[in-house]
Amino acid sequence: MCGIVAVFGKENASQIVLDGLKNLEYRGYDSWGVGTPGEGKVEIEKQIGKISEAILPDSFPQKTLAIGHTRWATHGGVTPENAHPHFNEEKQIAVVHNGIIENFVELRSELRGRGHVFFSDTDTEVLCHLMEEYIDDGKTLLEAAQCTANRCEGRFAFVVLHYGENCLVAVRRGSPLILGIGENGDAYLASDTPAFINHTQKIHYIDDGEIVYLEDSKITVHSLETLEPIEKREVTLDITPEDATKGSHAHFMIKEIYEQKDTIARATNQDSQEIEKIAEEISKARGTFLIGCGTAHKVAAAGEYFFSMIAKKHVNTAVASEFPIFHDFLRPESLIIAISQSGETADVIEAIEAARSVGSTVLSIVNSAGSTVARMSDFSLHIKAGPEKAVASTKAATSQLTVLLLLAYACAGKLDDGRKLMVDAASLVNDLVNPRFVEFVAGIAKEIADQNNIFIIGKGANFPMALESAIKIQEVSYIHAEGFAGGELKHGPIAMIEPGTPCLVLVSSNELQKKEILSNAMEIKARGGRIIGVSSENSEIFDDWIRVPEAGAANPILNLIPVQVLSYYLALERGFNPDMPRNLAKSVTVK
Ligand code: F6R
Repeated sequence: MCGIVAVFGKENASQIVLDGLKNLEYRGYDSWGVGTPGEGKVEIEKQIGKISEAILPDSFPQKTLAIGHTRWATHGGVTPENAHPHFNEEKQIAVVHNGIIENFVELRSELRGRGHVFFSDTDTEVLCHLMEEYIDDGKTLLEAAQCTANRCEGRFAFVVLHYGENCLVAVRRGSPLILGIGENGDAYLASDTPAFINHTQKIHYIDDGEIVYLEDSKITVHSLETLEPIEKREVTLDITPEDATKGSHAHFMIKEIYEQKDTIARATNQDSQEIEKIAEEISKARGTFLIGCGTAHKVAAAGEYFFSMIAKKHVNTAVASEFPIFHDFLRPESLIIAISQSGETADVIEAIEAARSVGSTVLSIVNSAGSTVARMSDFSLHIKAGPEKAVASTKAATSQLTVLLLLAYACAGKLDDGRKLMVDAASLVNDLVNPRFVEFVAGIAKEIADQNNIFIIGKGANFPMALESAIKIQEVSYIHAEGFAGGELKHGPIAMIEPGTPCLVLVSSNELQKKEILSNAMEIKARGGRIIGVSSENSEIFDDWIRVPEAGAANPILNLIPVQVLSYYLALERGFNPDMPRNLAKSVTVK
């Protein structure tokens, strides 16, 4: 959610920043901007529109340092004025920022009271004017950034550029910031690593309460509180520049759907000792909460079914943003299992902070191994799905489900059975992501793309998968989609069924659940609904049959894949770019 990039010590820094921003487009695509030192002021180019289409004017200076931003609007509409970088009156100082400054209204009126003129509606702009005041007071850029951060409330990261100084300063307090270390004294700052993966794979994860200073060949990290230098550990990234591209695919979403051929197998390949150790923690915990947002929450809800059915263990599930309601139930002997692809979701981080404050144990299941969530956890399992750049989560979801299923089997003392189940399931994914199958599902998408409503039903762990299916369809095709437990329809929503209304039926492998969901499907069919069965076996109830291989307890995971494909083609049929759903951005770092 908003991407920031800064480059230091490299010729053509502005162009490198722009290229880096293009790799962070999934974090926001409302507007973009780049800033670099110019003659007597910072030179800034900013525009509304997608960063993928951005070009810097030929006349734009190419110096050895620059900052840039791709925006997902929070404060202020999508206008050129509200695009970053923001600047002070004389344009000596420019700032790019990710996150929210909660007390910006008070700060702005205070600054206006002292004569400052504001050019935008954003919270960010207060940073520029505060910086200006501290620099005018004789503070260095580093000290001014420290003082500025100390005046601000909320979670944020920002980078500051001063036109007259050959240095950059960046602060992290709550929003992601990663420092890339180049070979020749060059350095990179960004919200996420794809921004600079073409230049370096050596990084330092900047922690909350740290400030980075880049000057000539000096790259230092300091405590935000004391400005004392901090020794950082260098990490080498295990992603390649190719991982961050679409390859031969038209969109990241379909590329990532296809990647599930490998990613489910990779998620299965967890260290047995670690899984057993974590299973022990789950078994001994008194009160376990599975939490996540959006898709990750639906994964958590499926996890509740896995633990219940496989390990006979009760766990609670909560949407992370609602978790404050349950804080009173946290104890030192509680366990929270936080699920997050990005590992940077603000509501998830807040839930972890609450758990840590009472001494509960925290386990996270993340895709970004060095993320905030991973680093705040006592135990962290890496799903190893590789960068997920489409806004709609696909491969991360099936990998998270895989890890939860393994944990449930481990809690039941049957890890080997779980592993075998998932190895077999992974080998079946090819049946679901091959051109013939994809073309078949695309054909169904073509037929139903003009519908106003799509319903999805499931039973057992397929119920949360129905909820997740609805999110997928909604977010990329903008068709109203809703998921239900099969038995719930007749308690109200069945009134919405009209002749031809598509209803996806996610059929379980469990015989009883299968019988019941088919009977629910029959109730819909009797009202004229179009029944699209997602099932290993055909049924006379189905108007369309999407054949999914039989995968036993892994069936809810495989059932999700055709719905992902369907959602993708619904978006294309309706003329939308599935990688850039309106109003959305990946990695929701604001509350
Ligand atoms: C939907 C989607 C979102 C995310 C949610 C949590 O396709 O991607 O609902 O699942 O924003 O994000 P993470 O997993 O990064 O915490």
